[in-house]
Amino acid sequence: MKGIILAGGRGTRLYPTTISVSKQLLPIYDKPMIYYPISILLLAQIKDILIISSPEDIEMYKKLLKDGADLGIHFTYKVQDKPNGLAEAFILGEEFIGQDDVCLILGDNVFYGQGLTDIFKRIKHHQGGATIFGYQVNNPEDFGVVEFDENYNVLSLEEKPKIPKSKYAVPGLYFYDNKVIEFAKKIKPSSRGELEITAINNEYLKRGELKVEVLGRGFAWLDTGSPSNMLKAGMFVETIQSRQGLYIACIEEIAWRQGYITSEELRKTGEKLKHTEYGRYILDLLKDGDSK
Ligand code: DAU
Repeated sequence: MKGIILAGGRGTRLYPTTISVSKQLLPIYDKPMIYYPISILLLAQIKDILIISSPEDIEMYKKLLKDGADLGIHFTYKVQDKPNGLAEAFILGEEFIGQDDVCLILGDNVFYGQGLTDIFKRIKHHQGGATIFGYQVNNPEDFGVVEFDENYNVLSLEEKPKIPKSKYAVPGLYFYDNKVIEFAKKIKPSSRGELEITAINNEYLKRGELKVEVLGRGFAWLDTGSPSNMLKAGMFVETIQSRQGLYIACIEEIAWRQGYITSEELRKTGEKLKHTEYGRYILDLLKDGDSK
């Protein structure tokens, strides 16, 4: 399975901060926002990742993440000329996806919670179709909204409905079979002029091939859409990390635990960053007796 991270867009809701900086490079506490979706793809054991961003920003991502060798994975980069919508990812990524299944994650989505890896294993085992997630929020009208019955059969999907049919927002994490490329080419831009991911999901729904996995109240799906929400997300990460002494989205740690890099390779990154708490955390992982 391939992975795509969409890290384009204009970030207008965070102006003036994002006039000259890509939103997904801004920090959520102690690391760039894009580390969080990368960590999710790593946990899903996806090692081949396409990063899509705007012509102005793509070089910054290459500078930060390079070819992925430091993590034992592979990053490819692609420019999106304009924010034409999330579904354009599959058109831009056609060659990269090839004949594979694909997971799309939005570069500004932060997930945290126990059991995610088990969910990913389950999704990767069932064949064909698409899987989206549902997460209860207070403001469903700001997101894609999924309605489902007591057996988790999807009944409807709407993009930012004025009157939502449920309280379940659809987070920016989606698993698709290869048909997604064909669907992305087929759908038409919405009234806001975008190729909507909800239109893709509705194609799967029409065919009876859309599953929803509900992320329960023990999960955190954090909003980074406004300065106040970004601050709250940063405080959440700081709170968990300082309480447990375990980091959220330390991508080098995950790569190491998955066996993608050796202890020696992990040490090299730790040494480079040793003047920061992040670097010292990495070096501490290598001390004997680590059983986290
Ligand atoms: O966050 C989840 C929500 O993301 C879903 O519930 C919605 O169904 C989905 O449409 C999307 O809603 P937004 O309108 O909030 O997405 P936004 O335009 O803010 O873009 C999400 C991310 O994708 C953001 O990091 C920018 C990036 N992006 C967006 C567009 C439209 C791109 O890289 N390229 C694009 O063309």
